[in-house]
Amino acid sequence: MAVRPVLKMGEPRLFEVSEAVSEEEFETVELRSLIADMFDTMAALEGAGLAAPQIGILKRVVIFGVAENSRYPQVEPVPMTVLINPVVEVLDTATEEDWEGCLSVPGMRGLVERASHIRYSGYSETGAPLRREAKGFHARVVQHECDHLDGILYPMRIPDLRNFGYEDALFPEQPH
Ligand code: NI
Repeated sequence: MAVRPVLKMGEPRLFEVSEAVSEEEFETVELRSLIADMFDTMAALEGAGLAAPQIGILKRVVIFGVAENSRYPQVEPVPMTVLINPVVEVLDTATEEDWEGCLSVPGMRGLVERASHIRYSGYSETGAPLRREAKGFHARVVQHECDHLDGILYPMRIPDLRNFGYEDALFPEQPH
């Protein structure tokens, strides 16, 4: 288990499409240690989520979860989750805009429109199927993390780039 360096925007691997985890890979030492490293890295950097390509592993594995997070003081908790080979289905045409950040884009925030209500499915680290509905911040985190698996970083989804900037300039009243 280890905290791994997080690739930053500009690194070509972040724009790749990641590969599905095969059946034989479930419950292997490699997959288990990848997930352990992802949790260590996310915790060390106080992230709400992390995708395997962010640590340079081009596999369709994401983790997310928020108990109480100093980076997101106003958000509702999200269950700590490992999601492998995820599929996201939009359940409602409603969308909402909110500020996002990313460990691969440190110090910055952008206003991104996301589907408000989704269903997501995939597999846990043992290969057990998982299927949930999510709204609001939970739905946003899942969409953001799954985008990483297709090589999409949130700045690519900001419709108006005036709503993209440095945290301390955008939110001067908040502690950084
Ligand atoms: Ni991200």
